[in-house]
Amino acid sequence: MTEQAPVAESGTTDIPGKPTSASRTTLSHIMTHHDTNLLGTVHGGVIMKLVDDAAGAVAGRHSGGPAVTASMDEMAFLEPVRVGDLVHVKAQVNWTGRTSMEVGVKVLAERWNESAPPTHVGSAYLVFAAVDADGKPRPVLPVLPETEQDKRRYQEAQIRRTHRLARRRAIMELRERRAAEGFED
Ligand SMILES: CC(C)(COP(=O)(O)OP(=O)(O)OC[C@H]1O[C@@H](n2cnc3c(N)ncnc32)[C@H](O)[C@@H]1OP(=O)(O)O)[C@@H](O)C(=O)NCCC(=O)NCCS
Repeated sequence: MTEQAPVAESGTTDIPGKPTSASRTTLSHIMTHHDTNLLGTVHGGVIMKLVDDAAGAVAGRHSGGPAVTASMDEMAFLEPVRVGDLVHVKAQVNWTGRTSMEVGVKVLAERWNESAPPTHVGSAYLVFAAVDADGKPRPVLPVLPETEQDKRRYQEAQIRRTHRLARRRAIMELRERRAAEGFED
């Protein structure tokens, strides 16, 4: 069972927070020949850099200061991006913890030679930690999801958070068990 998202309407909660729309960002970029791989399509790493940039801008805006990438979940590439495409990287805070934020990113490509709606070419989820001047985690305001889509994303982010923590814990336990059994790898 996931927790309910904080409620945005004034008067229904005492938790101060920031609505999702306050930090939502779109970064747009035209792809050039400098961005291609040997096959002539855009290198996945170029898209990942844009994803990290857009997510970082959102995390910085939401937390009102510096924020660093703590992790990036699997990035799905659904369609190739080509030279000349206008790529839109849309990012928003899906969920907030005490000092961390999950940012969801959706990548769309407008084909320069087609008059079709933008193609969904990729998606990713990143966790950012807000940090102070010493690089230590600092608290963030809760995100206040506004639309039904924001609320669904909040609940899905909680599921991913639970899985990330469980995976980390299971790996730590395995390492401790192996160390106790005398393995030194
Ligand atoms: C991310 C970082 C600040 C975490 O610091 P820490 O001392 O481990 O602090 P904590 O364990 O309290 O983690 C802080 C928050 O980040 C979350 N977090 C830390 N590592 C995480 C990971 N691998 N995946 C998801 N969340 C993570 C924690 O759950 C916690 O969230 P919460 O406060 O909302 O519960 C630290 O590891 C760091 O500075 N990493 C390098 C970041 C960086 O340089 N990124 C750019 C890549 S070059």
